[in-house]
Amino acid sequence: MTSIDDVRARFPGLSDGWVRLDGPAGTLPVDTCVDAIADYMRSPAPANLGGEFDASRASDAVVARAREAIAALVGAKADEIVVGPSTTNLMFSFTRALARHWGPGDRIVCSQLDHDSNVSPWLLAARDSGATVEMLEVDPVDGTLDVEPLKGLCADGRTKWVAISGASNLTGHAPDLARAVAIAHEHGARILVDGVARVPHLPTDAAALGVDVLSTSPYKWYGPHAGVLAVRNGLLGQIEPYRVRPADYVGPFRWETGTTQIELLAGITAAAEFMTSTSIADEAARETRLLALLQEGLHEMPGVTVHGPSVTPDRAPTVVFTVRGRSPQEVDRFLASRRIAVWHGDNYACELVDALGLRESGGLVRAGIVRYTSEDDVLALLAALAELGPA
Ligand SMILES: Cc1ncc(COP(=O)(O)O)c(C=O)c1O
Repeated sequence: MTSIDDVRARFPGLSDGWVRLDGPAGTLPVDTCVDAIADYMRSPAPANLGGEFDASRASDAVVARAREAIAALVGAKADEIVVGPSTTNLMFSFTRALARHWGPGDRIVCSQLDHDSNVSPWLLAARDSGATVEMLEVDPVDGTLDVEPLKGLCADGRTKWVAISGASNLTGHAPDLARAVAIAHEHGARILVDGVARVPHLPTDAAALGVDVLSTSPYKWYGPHAGVLAVRNGLLGQIEPYRVRPADYVGPFRWETGTTQIELLAGITAAAEFMTSTSIADEAARETRLLALLQEGLHEMPGVTVHGPSVTPDRAPTVVFTVRGRSPQEVDRFLASRRIAVWHGDNYACELVDALGLRESGGLVRAGIVRYTSEDDVLALLAALAELGPA
């Protein structure tokens, strides 16, 4: 395995010396991603897609390569990969298109574990179509999600879609996806998995899991800001997107309204190749070791409460905590004064923070381990929290 120093040397953004534990909100881009975007922009290639001249063909090749690279990362086929400005943006257009086929009596199941990008688009599309939304509830103590109640929610065959997190962007908890897929499909429902907080850390094979749609955002895995849906099982051709009339392309092009972000796709290829250049399982094991170091350190610290599940290999390496007598914002600010970047609040996992009863007190402080996190980063966070202490 590459040494952590060699990994860190590939991230120009680390040069300012900050301790970057803000990865769940977005990682730094890897050097090859930065270079690929700059190289494309400097080349004669910047040209729109589908032309007969060399520069346009070169752009076509950039897009085709990106679809291949993303597909290899998430276990899909290249022609199942739709790229857009963000996962949230794609979720709104996808659910709006789906909702044309819903009506009163139809049901969508969402979960309290999810980032709001996998809740609000469904709520609004359901509202507009007359369908209803039911929520799968989390355990109010540790925020974990048992998917078994899905059975009851799907039993009458009226559930059209199940929308569920692949891993929480707040607590790192990863529900039993294989079971959720089995229950949904057994009752004729489709399933969309939000893989945004999962794909950067855990092996995620959309085909092997059998999910119908998997989302992922390349800026969470060392790439540029963009969103991706891997839409499987022939669904892309079955759903009619909102699009302009001349855009009669097939496959992903039908869904990519307007000109796609070609230069970013060049960077996405490099980031996806960085992700798959080493074993994701090995990387997950290293991240889990650091997670254990962090979580043990926090557990031992007076006045600090860790929320969420214990350390296991099958979860994302993200930790949330609170400090007695100090608001999450105060803790975040103090850490920033020590040049340590974290996040605080609900981080858009609104239902989960409500279920944990932490809304009134300002949510939680979140720190995430990613590939460039070092043991020194973890120790720096622990030392700063010991310096702050509870109030
Ligand atoms: C779990 C999860 N899902 C979805 C999103 C939304 O992704 P995007 O910013 O690409 O819209 C985020 C963003 O933080 C996230 O953490």
